[in-house]
Amino acid sequence: MSTVYILMGVAGVGKTTLGKMLAKELSLSFYDADDFHSQLNKNKMKAGTPLDDNDRESWLNSLSIAIKKWGDSNGAVLACSALKEKYRKILSRNDAVKIEWIYLYEDYETIAKRIQQRKLHFFDPLLLKSQFEILEPPTYGITVKVEANPEKSLKEILEKIKRPEIGLIGLGVMGQSLALNIAGKGYPVSVYNRQAGEKEKNIAQLFAKSHAHRFQIPAYDDLKKFILGLETPRNILMMVKAGFAVDAVIEDVLAFLEPGDLIMDGGNSHFKDTERRAEALKSKGIKYLGVGISGGEEGALNGPSIMPGGVESAYNRVKPVLEAISARDKHGEPCCAYIGSGTSGHYVKMVHNGIEYGEMQLIAEFYYFMRFFQQRSPEDISEIFSEWNDSERSYLLGITYHILKKKEANEPIIDKILDVAGQKGTGGWTTSSALELGVSLDTITASVMARNISGLKAQKEKAKDLYKGLNSNSVDISLKNLFAAYKAASIINHSIGFELLRIASKEYKWNLNLSEIARLWTNGCIIRSSFMEELVEIFGSENEDHLLLHPRVIDHLNMRKLQFINTVAEIQKAGCPMQVSSAALNYFLNFIRGNTSANIIQAQRDYFGAHTYERTDKPRRNFFHTNWNIK
Ligand code: 6PG
Repeated sequence: MSTVYILMGVAGVGKTTLGKMLAKELSLSFYDADDFHSQLNKNKMKAGTPLDDNDRESWLNSLSIAIKKWGDSNGAVLACSALKEKYRKILSRNDAVKIEWIYLYEDYETIAKRIQQRKLHFFDPLLLKSQFEILEPPTYGITVKVEANPEKSLKEILEKIKRPEIGLIGLGVMGQSLALNIAGKGYPVSVYNRQAGEKEKNIAQLFAKSHAHRFQIPAYDDLKKFILGLETPRNILMMVKAGFAVDAVIEDVLAFLEPGDLIMDGGNSHFKDTERRAEALKSKGIKYLGVGISGGEEGALNGPSIMPGGVESAYNRVKPVLEAISARDKHGEPCCAYIGSGTSGHYVKMVHNGIEYGEMQLIAEFYYFMRFFQQRSPEDISEIFSEWNDSERSYLLGITYHILKKKEANEPIIDKILDVAGQKGTGGWTTSSALELGVSLDTITASVMARNISGLKAQKEKAKDLYKGLNSNSVDISLKNLFAAYKAASIINHSIGFELLRIASKEYKWNLNLSEIARLWTNGCIIRSSFMEELVEIFGSENEDHLLLHPRVIDHLNMRKLQFINTVAEIQKAGCPMQVSSAALNYFLNFIRGNTSANIIQAQRDYFGAHTYERTDKPRRNFFHTNWNIK
């Protein structure tokens, strides 16, 4: 199937001149739609009578038949006014034809002058006004303001008719921001959004229209046209809600894809879903990448952190564009790099979110303590977080500083926000994966549970009057100690997240580079921080053991361990919940004790179920059973 290029716009704008030049450049035949008018229409125009829609219908019909014929052979260049959308619909009604719309425009005065200078043309310059009146500029295709110098306009057309290298499906906030980011970096991108009732009506067209002053982004609500309009082999980035919607989109696009095409899932899909999808598509010759993207709306627009996983050759195809749109680390390198095979990209993004859950809850806990057990105002706490952020930069601390400062009708908005946390699943999935791998994920799991317990709002309201006598109104703990405890808990939360990655990498044979993952997380993503910068170096020193055994981490925690233990204990003594901080503390205390209480567990298991146990006075992997009957 070949492309038919249609240069459209009002009479006199330069369709014929530029059309002929373009046809020559592309070695295609040129056609002028005027030649397809009936004699009756030509006479009417000559007499200065504007054509009505009936006059145009037979003309457009014969043109659409010709377009189909050209599309089935070598393609062509056609100059045709095609002023209204309904005319263009007739011209493009044959789905199997690839049409590239080239909308030429110029202001009324310039064109009127040009037409008046024309000789021997049957078009009456007075008709120009009516053409401007009915003109409906397209929101798709490419737009070119015609220059006095046609060579210049031709050059612009040739640059713009490069077909989109990447097609983006799903124009939610992340999809829109990424599309603008891609276009802004000079990569041709087209977008598709389904039509779904009033809620999702003309999303793609409206999006392209509202950014038309900056970018030419072909926008579609017809999936087939969107896919056929892409450069082959095709690269498609899905930005749709994780879960069923991803499967539905894959099923729909598959109808039009060819072997060698690539689908990328940029959402927070469960890594096991990504594995299943990649396997199913492999048998059809379609490549699949699970691409973790972090940074929210702002990151997606200005540079997110990108974690692509899957077949490396598929990644290499889209590497230039993904790197171009990503954030930069402190050395100016892209915060985007191939993570590993299989579903590692989505797995790493999931653990990112797990650490994110832990960090968010930690900040929330310290806020809660200072707000309700030290009676500080949101504004005061905001200033405290700002100071913490000055000495230990963290994106999440920074945004919380802003949140606490924000007022509505002169009142802190935070006081009006209902204390019930939402979640979309990634935190809980991290816990499930850790359970499968036998990894202890204390802080991340505690942060998920803290969100869950916040949902028991009604019961909590009742319970507050049933268990009295615990609340202490002003607990005297210094800011220095609070900060030390926060920092220690945060280090442990990171250690726990990275430990899961280390074990998963071994289990799934991904060969993850933890230093590189930390580097990807130094900018663009939600958990970027100065500690993350430090982790790049810590992992870079080939310490492939638990992070809590690294000399720099040991120094950090040794320096703060007493403040950490005492502060969490004091806070809990006052009756203030500290789910993640105490989980971090318990993890730490368990980790540094050398021995644990697990000998009792083993003995109990052996007592009631003859599950056997290993002995301290015998080599490992030897199992013993005792007859516990004490008579
Ligand atoms: C990011 C965020 C992003 C999203 C979370 C929120 O890295 O940009 O993590 O992916 O905000 O999925 O998840 P919850 O709704 O579960 O808090």
